[in-house]
Amino acid sequence: MSNETHEKTGMSRRDFLGLASLGAAVISSLTVLAGTFRMFKANVRYEESTKFKIGKAEEFPAGTVKKLDDKGVFILSKDDGIYAISAICTHLGCIVNQVDWGFQCPCHGSRYNEHGKVIGGPAPRSLEWLEISEAVDGSLEVDTAKSVPVGTKLKLYA
Ligand code: FES
Repeated sequence: MSNETHEKTGMSRRDFLGLASLGAAVISSLTVLAGTFRMFKANVRYEESTKFKIGKAEEFPAGTVKKLDDKGVFILSKDDGIYAISAICTHLGCIVNQVDWGFQCPCHGSRYNEHGKVIGGPAPRSLEWLEISEAVDGSLEVDTAKSVPVGTKLKLYA
């Protein structure tokens, strides 16, 4: 029978097994090599940081209101300090607008007072106040992952 196979395919069982083992060895070697190269690539996740700089304190004189649409944050400066309020509506996440009496969501009409407290609409929670601090280089930075109690302000001028 072996001779029949050899005659039909031109390859003996021994040759076939030899080639199969060689193929398996090559595939194993390539897998090990790929794993070795992968080891040198840093295993990091490239997510945007929740902390970002907003500029120097002198750029925020009392009365300043700055809306950072891309970050979803309002920066407000008063005589007694500077603070950050999330501009992300607590209903379904639209960006709220500042109005005379506070903030209003353009999506489903949630209304918040000037401190971000819900005063109407479907929003289940108040807007978050976010941590604002002074970085080592003197610029101010906001951390959207850290909320602070309502009324927490960073005093700019002692
Ligand atoms: S997302 Fe703001 S009210 Fe619905």
